Formats: sequence, C-alpha cells, structure tokens
Amino acid sequence: MQHIVMRRAQKLRNDWKKEYYETVRDIIEHPVMQEMRKYQQHCHTDCLQHCVNVSYHNYLICRVLRLDARAAARAGLLHDLFLYDWRLHAGITGDRFHAMTHPRRALRNAEKYFMLSELEKDIILKHMWPLTVIPPKSLESLIIGIVDKTCGLFEISEFYSEKWMAETSQKLSGRKKER
Ligand SMILES: [Fe+2]
Ligand SMILES: [Fe+2]
Repeated sequence: MQHIVMRRAQKLRNDWKKEYYETVRDIIEHPVMQEMRKYQQHCHTDCLQHCVNVSYHNYLICRVLRLDARAAARAGLLHDLFLYDWRLHAGITGDRFHAMTHPRRALRNAEKYFMLSELEKDIILKHMWPLTVIPPKSLESLIIGIVDKTCGLFEISEFYSEKWMAETSQKLSGRKKER
C-alpha cells in the first residue's frame, strides 16, 4: 500500500515538473534569461538559478492553493530580471536602494521581451513588499515575497553548510595525518 502511494506521489511530482516546464518554456529558453547566469544572487547561486527556485516553488504553492499557478511561475522567473551585479550597483550608479528599486527595473526589462498579464506585473512589482510601500493586490503577489525570502535563506545556508563541512573534513583529515 505504502509502495503504491509513494509511486503515485512520484508520478504526480514528475507530471507537475513537466507542466511547470511547459508553462515557462518560452521564458526560460529566451537568450535574455541566460544573461542572468552572469550575476551572482546569493553566495554561489546565480541570478537565473535563484529565479528558477522561486518560480518553481511559487508554482507548486499556487497550484496546491488553486491560485493562478501560471502567473506565479512566469512572474517568479522574471522577478529579478535586473541584469546587473547588485553588489557593485551602488558604487557604479549611486543607487543605494537596490532592494527597493530593482522590482521596477525587472518589470521594465520583462516587458521588453515578454507579454505580461496585470497579475504577473503586480507579482514582479510587489515581490519586495513591505520594503516597497504599496501593498500586493493578490495572494500570488504576497506568496512570492515569502517564497523569495525562503529561497534566499536556503541558498545562503546551503553555501555556508557546504563550506563548514569542507573545512571540518579538512581539519579531520589533517588530524589523522598528525597521528
Ligand atoms: Fe528581488
Ligand atoms: Fe529574488
């Protein structure tokens, strides 16, 4: 019985992955998205990987809650399409408020390449709320704010836990050699 449930869960996961990919295929395969690989977002996670993480989890949550999963997935991919290194941005441009200004920049860039619904625009624009003062108009726009921060935390903690494990195993192997 447990075996059947596990197999069904696995099939559902695979079906949803396929559906997700079909929903975002035109965006993810667009050359402008590949440009995002050039920029680091959190530690060793590049901007494209971060946006895929946010987009996919947005999709799953909104699908389970019977919200607009398509808009959540598509806007999730585009939410950080600002195309610069945010660590160097203030020094180069004088804009010290990247956290507040990048949603509008991402929306402007996204509109250049893709047709967006009003909901998708709101999701991109409000993903940093409450830092950006105007509140979200929809649950999808509220959800991306939570998913974005959670993915960021995981990306950072993954980096530091890998670093800690590498350092610890190096120390342990050093101790073994000393014996
Ligand atoms: Fe962002
Ligand atoms: Fe983000």
